[in-house]
Amino acid sequence: MCSIIGYKGKNSAAPILVDSLKKMEYRGYDSVGVATIDDGSILVRKGIGKVIEVNKSLNISEMAGKIGIGHTRWATHGGVTDSNAHPHSACNKNIAVVHNGIIENYKELKAELTAKGHVFSSETDTEVIAHLLEINISGGIRKAMIDTCKSLKGNFAFVAVFQDGTIAGARYEEPLIIGVANDGYFISSDVLGFLQYTDKAIFLENGDICIVDSSKLEIFDFEGSPVAHPITQVAWELGDIDKGKYAHHTLKEINDQKQTVVHAGRQDEVMMQKFCDILGNAKSIYITGSGTSYHSALLFKHMLARFGKIRAETVMSSEAEYALSSMEADSILVAISQSGETADVLDSVKLAKSQGAKILSILNVTTSSLARSSDAFLSTNCGPEIGVAATKSFTGQLALIYNVTDRLCNGCLGTSKAEFAIAVENVLANVASIAKAAEKMNGATDIYLLGRSLHYPVALEGALKLKELAYVHAEGIAAGELKHGPLALMEKNTIVIMLNPHDDTFSDTISNAHEIKARGATVIGISDSKDDVYDHWIEIPRLNQSAFYPLVEVIPLQILAYQLALANSVDPDYPRNLAKSVTVR
Ligand code: AGP
Repeated sequence: MCSIIGYKGKNSAAPILVDSLKKMEYRGYDSVGVATIDDGSILVRKGIGKVIEVNKSLNISEMAGKIGIGHTRWATHGGVTDSNAHPHSACNKNIAVVHNGIIENYKELKAELTAKGHVFSSETDTEVIAHLLEINISGGIRKAMIDTCKSLKGNFAFVAVFQDGTIAGARYEEPLIIGVANDGYFISSDVLGFLQYTDKAIFLENGDICIVDSSKLEIFDFEGSPVAHPITQVAWELGDIDKGKYAHHTLKEINDQKQTVVHAGRQDEVMMQKFCDILGNAKSIYITGSGTSYHSALLFKHMLARFGKIRAETVMSSEAEYALSSMEADSILVAISQSGETADVLDSVKLAKSQGAKILSILNVTTSSLARSSDAFLSTNCGPEIGVAATKSFTGQLALIYNVTDRLCNGCLGTSKAEFAIAVENVLANVASIAKAAEKMNGATDIYLLGRSLHYPVALEGALKLKELAYVHAEGIAAGELKHGPLALMEKNTIVIMLNPHDDTFSDTISNAHEIKARGATVIGISDSKDDVYDHWIEIPRLNQSAFYPLVEVIPLQILAYQLALANSVDPDYPRNLAKSVTVR
């Protein structure tokens, strides 16, 4: 959940590194640091804050040198302090390291190194890597990298810079990608770190080490045997992360949905058929994901059951270790993930594979580890999502789920890209009414969201958006469960959002709204039909196919969470304590 970048080339390293870190800041944003080599010495500047702020205060982009490494941090071991910010150096200051992941045996290693006289200047697990490299360097950089990697337990991707101008990287269970430019090399956590300079990438695999030494690239494994990987051409559009006329990426991404729900329908026919064939013929199906992607998994399960007459189980990826232990060998695991790098999701894939299951995935980043571990994958095609809150990736996942279900039920849904686009555009045009609802909710400390059937996962998703963007306690509740307990919470000033379009859940949910209203709570209805029970009505368009309502009813919830974030002085793109890709367990 940190971003790492290394550069060695013909240009000034620091401005390139700062630029790259800005593009990858979504991965972690509590502190920043860069090390460059100038005149045979390693210079380090680092501090807490966002890239723009730290660069401004420390003039990082003016650091001299054509070789360097950089990092943005999401703290795991050690508080958010200047000294815990990366890069970390060893005692002689002749090596500096940036790292993403967790070194599980760092305490033992630190004790051994301390006993040998090494002095540590941070509380991080990362610093052991710098000291190990320093100890192992006597046999040369190649051997130092191999010996150091062999000593580490846990998951890591790191890049080190050495005083002689060499940069080297290693990968185990965390992504690391080499960018091959005409005038230099990059070693990065994400293609976004170098895509503005080159579209040629080499994806390292687990157990790979790379060294860029006097502009030659060498890749080998932890045993020292050479490794060959192809150079992949990455689509330039993946680098399109400009927020344009919008104040925040999150707002742009919410508005992008009128196009992205259409783009999700653009699938490679062969891949789509393969995906549906595997799914349609599966004996047992498990669907997994984390956070928002798990909510899509819940919707997928409903859709498959109701329209495809296919039974599937859903498993939160963080629970997969316990829930998937008895998978049948011929099962299918469908993994849903925007980033394709979420550690919990990748772990569940690994576990399922080890039990003989096939992997299908729905993802947004087609160059991700998940894409490379899947038997077939479909892309939501919604372009880079930078805001920490998933918005367009959720509706992209839903649009894809509708498409797949439609195939599996021989066109019973009648999915229409045009209908999706018009419906989403209509909701987005309704911002004024959503703003009024946000005013009613401003200052609330607890918000409840109720829905039945397909609307229940949307209630969970809306609650997640309110928690992470507005820092408000919010809870999604299956409306029928109200009488089994949550009704006790309803009183004057309680805010309840009812997800209640005109489908087979409508009248039961209206009854719930009356029960809530009778206890004095404020009821906000998101529906295609007005009702007196609502204190405030957010209108959504009427749809021909009622199964598509989740796609449109989630948008007012995203906008509400965004508006409440602004009202609560939260930067919606970078909420506290979170990172976009959760690559640690
Ligand atoms: C959603 O708004 C969150 N930021 C988070 O729950 C996210 O959906 C989750 O971490 C899964 O990410 P993924 O889809 O990239 O796997």
